[in-house]
Amino acid sequence: MEHTLTQVKNYADLTPAELRALVDPMRLPRHMAIIMDGNGRWAARRGLPRIAGHRKGMEVVREVVTACSRLHVPALTLYAFSTENWKRPPLEVSVLMSLLTLYLRQELSLMKRDNIRFSTIGRVEDLPPEARAWIERAKAETAGNTGMVLDLALSYGGRWEIIDAVKKIAADMKAGNIEPDALDEKIFSGYLDTRYMPELDLVIRTSGEQRISNFLLWQTAYAELYFTEALWPDFTERDLLVAILDYQGRQRRFGKTSEQLGS
Ligand code: IPE
Ligand code: IPE
Ligand code: MG
Repeated sequence: MEHTLTQVKNYADLTPAELRALVDPMRLPRHMAIIMDGNGRWAARRGLPRIAGHRKGMEVVREVVTACSRLHVPALTLYAFSTENWKRPPLEVSVLMSLLTLYLRQELSLMKRDNIRFSTIGRVEDLPPEARAWIERAKAETAGNTGMVLDLALSYGGRWEIIDAVKKIAADMKAGNIEPDALDEKIFSGYLDTRYMPELDLVIRTSGEQRISNFLLWQTAYAELYFTEALWPDFTERDLLVAILDYQGRQRRFGKTSEQLGS
């Protein structure tokens, strides 16, 4: 059966393969980011400790990374741990750090198989030594890969990222490397952790919360936002494909009128 976007009102009847066939490979988000939220609630609904939700969430990360890489999404940033998440109970923080290490140990071979290049944003220096060592190893061993960039936001906060950029710019101005009048959006972006990433096109947040929670504040300026009720541990490849199809059905006007865009 032939499907076009206008014919399909409800994606629920379609298999992931059918949904995949609807995705326009020429209009994929260049950089997609996901606020993976709802692990704790997923666990609570099952009478399990929050940690069980984080564990299940980690399996979903694998599925989503593989799906994005196979679609040839150029870059995927996953919000794994925010600067604010340090305020959680110490036991939860330490379990999250162990899961991060476990994830990297398990997934490094898959990253290599799938030609994925691993990177991070955020204050990685705040993480425990074991996690940092695996991060360095994953970066080094995938540095030559040419497929999707998998970027983990770890101890990441958008405001901190901007303040860090401002500090570096101030130092460069003091040293005479940049003229204050020369500073523009392009130069500023070059001081952010995301300087090597393509333009952010799509942000997905799971669990029904509709907020940014200090994620990619500068980069979201013109990103499309997609919110879903699914809790992160329940998020599937199908949900991912539906989000991308929704994104592809939107008109991005960047301040212009529809008429100017000729459609
Ligand atoms: C997201 O799930 C994972 C992290 C923030 C590390 P939560 O742990 O925030 O889950 P909820 O929001 O409490 O359900
Ligand atoms: C955002 O989720 C951070 C991550 C997904 C890593 P939170 O669950 O920490 O966000 P808030 O505090 O509810 O806004
Ligand atoms: Mg949460």
